[in-house]
Amino acid sequence: MLQRCVLRTYHVLALVLCVSAREDFDWTKNEKTSFYYSTFPTGFSWGAGSSAYQTEGAWNIDGKGMSIWDAFTRKKGKIFLNDTGDTSCDGYNKFKEDITLMKDMKLNHYRFSISWPRILPSGLKSEHINEKGIKYYEDLINMLLDNKITPIVILYHWDLPQLLQEKYGGWQNVTMVNYFNDFANLCFERFGHKVKYWMTFNNPWSIAVEGYETGEHAPGMKLKGTGAYKAAHHIIKAHAKVWHTYDMQWRSKQKGMVGISLTADWGEPVDITNQRDIEAAERYIQFYLGWFATPIFNGDYPQVMKDYIGRKSGQQGLGASRLPVFSPQEKSYIKGTCDFLGLGHFTTRYITPKNYPSGLGDSYFTDRDLAELVDPKWPDPGSEWLYSVPWGFRRMLNFVKTQYGNPMVYVTENGVSEKMVCTDLCDDWRMQYFKDYINEMLKAVKDGVNVKGYTAWSLLDNFEWDEGFSERFGLYYVDFSNKNKPRYPKASVQFYKRIISSNGFPNQREVESWKRKAVETCASSNQLLAADPLIGHMEMVSEIVIPTVSTLCILLSAVFLMFLLRGRS
Ligand code: NOJ
Repeated sequence: MLQRCVLRTYHVLALVLCVSAREDFDWTKNEKTSFYYSTFPTGFSWGAGSSAYQTEGAWNIDGKGMSIWDAFTRKKGKIFLNDTGDTSCDGYNKFKEDITLMKDMKLNHYRFSISWPRILPSGLKSEHINEKGIKYYEDLINMLLDNKITPIVILYHWDLPQLLQEKYGGWQNVTMVNYFNDFANLCFERFGHKVKYWMTFNNPWSIAVEGYETGEHAPGMKLKGTGAYKAAHHIIKAHAKVWHTYDMQWRSKQKGMVGISLTADWGEPVDITNQRDIEAAERYIQFYLGWFATPIFNGDYPQVMKDYIGRKSGQQGLGASRLPVFSPQEKSYIKGTCDFLGLGHFTTRYITPKNYPSGLGDSYFTDRDLAELVDPKWPDPGSEWLYSVPWGFRRMLNFVKTQYGNPMVYVTENGVSEKMVCTDLCDDWRMQYFKDYINEMLKAVKDGVNVKGYTAWSLLDNFEWDEGFSERFGLYYVDFSNKNKPRYPKASVQFYKRIISSNGFPNQREVESWKRKAVETCASSNQLLAADPLIGHMEMVSEIVIPTVSTLCILLSAVFLMFLLRGRS
């Protein structure tokens, strides 16, 4: 009896602790304070990011298998100008040069991903391990460590082995959970003595919605209203399984951490005094970030997703919700499987309710019953979806703090692109974006959000998925037309370097000089780049024109000689 009482008290206490770990996010408060001069806590980690398919190239080199992106980019009309990541930045061959760039910026970490088909060409560990692929990542990791740059490794940045797509339907099939776990286990085994920061998935929202709902991304499936939910369900299970594998088999030896990288935009109520706008904005975020974060931190899908998708499925006459259900065992297995949260964030939307009556067109987007708006005054220097709204970042970070018990956060992606037409290495707008977004992150740290590191997206211009090479996010410009893929620093490299060396924004006088100083150097980089087509032209002369002309000369001389000999005889 006494034992029972103690147990019950313990349960009540545990419940109180759990509940008290979650605070309410204050939607009605949106301070847009002025620039905040201060520095980050000592040990704050500064980095830059990339992903395998976007950067490596070498798509069929050294035994690599095909990924769904290799297959998707081969279909005409899927990618802007039918570009592919076949060679991209040639990061596979140029990683040493890239580490020199990182070292020059004094980066503390580099966030990259491992290509699953590069080390398991068919996707299956039981079939074939490609040692050359393993060697590439070993060399990369070793060289990073030699240069005191911490590797932060993502296991899945969208490049599923194509054979797993063909045989099983990719993330529509629950068997991916075990295959992914085998792949992750192999990575822990081979690299885990050196890598201490792992993330299972990057931006699963995009994998699910763009891969299986809209079909804009590989594998290009358009399973409206069901595909994304199913893919996400399996991804969440796969994440949890990998976390448990690490926890049980590797943690005590390797002493690393396993998290997940979730990317989400912020949703701000159009009118913060209107309760319906607030609810719609919260719905937007729960369908975005909460879809993945709530099961992982709190044990199940957000209630609002269960309510909305369940009700709409009922109205469609379906016997069950289109949102799959976790069993009680699965819920407790998934809950708490995150040692730290990776957060990717780029932009913000204003949100207001909009009713979509249920019917044939049901989809992830109509399930949410809301409309997204933007302020025409927000700067939008690059990608059409990317408006610069720095205060949304602080709101997002505070939301994470209140909803998920103030987890340790590493910002895994934040940055801005530029459109292809204007090649200008003096990227004033990017410096402004970084300055303002990093400053809002600093305010969030002051608010008590547990942010430990920041990753600028991206180190290099790279393959921007369905946009091909037309949108450039890099700190470094890459000349894709030149087969050597030379890198050129944009002014933002100098600017980011100053933020890193000052660990923030020490004082107004100093910070205000940074942009001016950064611009002084970018003019000469612009000149170098302007000369680059000449280099490309010279290469063409030496590699195509000269050999062709020489061969023609030899042929002509031979013919001439033949005539001469005939004439004599
Ligand atoms: C997030 C994705 O993870 C990354 O691959 C992409 O380049 C950026 N968004 C910019 O669109």
